[in-house]
Amino acid sequence: EKKEIVVVGSCMIDFVCYAPRLPKEGETIHGYKFNTNFGGKGANQCVAAAYLGGNTALIARVGDDLWGEKYIDHLKKTKVDTTFVKKTSNSATGIAQITVSDTGQNQIVIVAGANTKLSVEDVKSAKELISSAEVVVCQLETSIDVAVETLTICSKISILNAAPSIKEYETKLLSLPTIFCVNEVEIEDFTGVTVNSLDDGREAVQRLLRKGCKSVILTLGSQGALYATPDRIDHVTTPTVKCVDTTGAGDAFIGALAYLLAHEKNSDILEIIKFACFAATDSVTRPGTQASFPDLQIFSKYDEMNN
Ligand code: RIB
Ligand code: NA
Repeated sequence: EKKEIVVVGSCMIDFVCYAPRLPKEGETIHGYKFNTNFGGKGANQCVAAAYLGGNTALIARVGDDLWGEKYIDHLKKTKVDTTFVKKTSNSATGIAQITVSDTGQNQIVIVAGANTKLSVEDVKSAKELISSAEVVVCQLETSIDVAVETLTICSKISILNAAPSIKEYETKLLSLPTIFCVNEVEIEDFTGVTVNSLDDGREAVQRLLRKGCKSVILTLGSQGALYATPDRIDHVTTPTVKCVDTTGAGDAFIGALAYLLAHEKNSDILEIIKFACFAATDSVTRPGTQASFPDLQIFSKYDEMNN
């Protein structure tokens, strides 16, 4: 069966501590709240698109533990197709240890577990699903080979969210995707440019284009995003909000981007990015990751803001 959005990527269980601030090296501090959530960039992005009404499938691996089973149930409840979400024997479901500060900033350590077993063979076995999708999305919490294979099979629009970032990679990784998407921290690993301003951002995206990217989106948190093609660079802004929890904001962005690219084929890409920024901004006003992702109401909220 054909799906409009196919995501190839990770499933993690997020263990989230809320504390007044992030701890320093070697320091112990008191937190005041603890939550366990469904996370992982792959699943998050897929769920974000599904919440907006996208017809989605996820290609992923969970462990053969209780968490793996719970994760598959959860995906089914959110109407994500799980035909290609496999339980992996002798493996633990991936986990993320997350700290969120009162200013909404976060720190994340992942132990990818079963995600590391997602293989090129797994991707090949879903070849028809991937090649018939309108939009295909991958990240780097699963192996680079998996991303390269996925991007090679994709026949329409592909998005590589190159997160977490890496310093060593083949140029193919940059030139294969239709859109290469990173945040201001990740782009430094790919370009050597530290991004502290919009101008730094422009310099960094230009370097990525010179390295072979077809187009680049650099997300900049409260500053919106830059969109660049070899012809031009545009800045898209986003409303200012009270930030509660930024965890997964990038995933809300990618999910919304994928949804709109699949549905609004005649829309201007800058309009699409503006909406995706709005969806991500909306998600930071609520705690949690998937739990904070917008649903269908975001469309009328967006129209109201623009009228
Ligand atoms: O992007 C946010 C996600 O990164 C979290 O859900 C966590 O699982 C890590 O993968
Ligand atoms: Na949030």
